[in-house]
Amino acid sequence: MEKYIILNNGVKIPRLGFGTDYLTGEECKQSVISAIETGYRLIDTAYVYKNEKEINKAVHDCISRGIVKREDLFITTKTSFHLSGEKETRRCFEESLNNLGLDYIDLYLIHQPYWDRLDWREHTISTYRVLEDLYSEGKVKAIGVCNFYYVAFLNSIARIAPQINQIECHPQRQYKKFIEDAKKYNIQPMAWGTLNQGCLFESDIIKNIAKKYDKTEAQVAIRWNLQYGCGIALVRSEKKERIEENFNVWDFELSQGDKKEIDRLDGTGRGRWEDECGMSTLPIGNAPQGKFWKKMHSFVTVPEVKVLTCKLFGFVPFLKKVRINNRITKIYLFGILVLKIDKKL
Ligand SMILES: NC(=O)c1ccc[n+]([C@@H]2O[C@H](COP(=O)([O-])OP(=O)(O)OC[C@H]3O[C@@H](n4cnc5c(N)ncnc54)[C@H](OP(=O)(O)O)[C@@H]3O)[C@@H](O)[C@H]2O)c1
Repeated sequence: MEKYIILNNGVKIPRLGFGTDYLTGEECKQSVISAIETGYRLIDTAYVYKNEKEINKAVHDCISRGIVKREDLFITTKTSFHLSGEKETRRCFEESLNNLGLDYIDLYLIHQPYWDRLDWREHTISTYRVLEDLYSEGKVKAIGVCNFYYVAFLNSIARIAPQINQIECHPQRQYKKFIEDAKKYNIQPMAWGTLNQGCLFESDIIKNIAKKYDKTEAQVAIRWNLQYGCGIALVRSEKKERIEENFNVWDFELSQGDKKEIDRLDGTGRGRWEDECGMSTLPIGNAPQGKFWKKMHSFVTVPEVKVLTCKLFGFVPFLKKVRINNRITKIYLFGILVLKIDKKL
């Protein structure tokens, strides 16, 4: 298996990346150094991980010792959750660039498409425009999004096509539909939570396959993602021996039979994305329909489908009778009317 993939703009990206969520301080620096020494070339961070300065130290330590050159590394970072639009996104990007001590970022992603806001589409568009500008200015080599399940929407707004959609993906949450959708628009999916944060290790299916190849469960899960999941996977560990173990996945191949077995795990266990969004009933392979999504769907229209829609969110009339001294009756009428108009973008 090739260790790199070529993105839709010709940029070469490593298939296996080192994740740094939850890693901070000296522990983060040492883990990133171990990762680079082991052979990882993709390092994934984010503004909100608050560890870009440690990654800066680790990266420059490795460069100064001649282990890698800047151009060998592929550094990914992401916008902040709550910052959007021209001014805030620019500021956030410049801060990340400064924290990382770099003059360009290899991949810059919108961390999530502001789905906690009613006007998430406007925030996504204005932020994505900044990513496009940064790309045109040569400050980032590739752009994209994370956790973005409306790829058709993304495709409809993009003036410069995104290269990556980073989503949760592992044997227990395979999100095949989202991977297919991304590929349909020539966007490369990238997996986070490759080990489902350690939860996969309870599975007998993974354990048996691992035994068969004399590999560990983690190696099977990573290999599954590279062969049958997203094709690019991120994995995190703070332990040197696990960092090395997780990178040792190039010398075996999972069969179609193994794939079928692992397919049986899809939908077992809960994904972190669902936990964080309060979704407990996400049907696999379909558009998300958990509690969180139902709420979102009531506000969301996919522009590909609707040109102009008017939505009446609520008209709540009620009567109230008030008797004063048993003689006067007053009637009040209250109403709330919310009208939302969506236009095709
Ligand atoms: N875009 C997004 O919204 C988003 C969201 C989440 C994550 N991410 C990115 O994706 C990366 C990976 O995802 P993740 O950090 O959520 O989780 P993950 O890589 O699925 O799992 C990490 C957990 O697995 C354990 N582990 C690692 N290797 C192991 C091994 N060989 N055997 C047993 N346990 C092992 C680690 O513990 P030890 O450290 O103790 O080894 C850690 O607790 C993140 O670090 C981040 O960069 C992106």
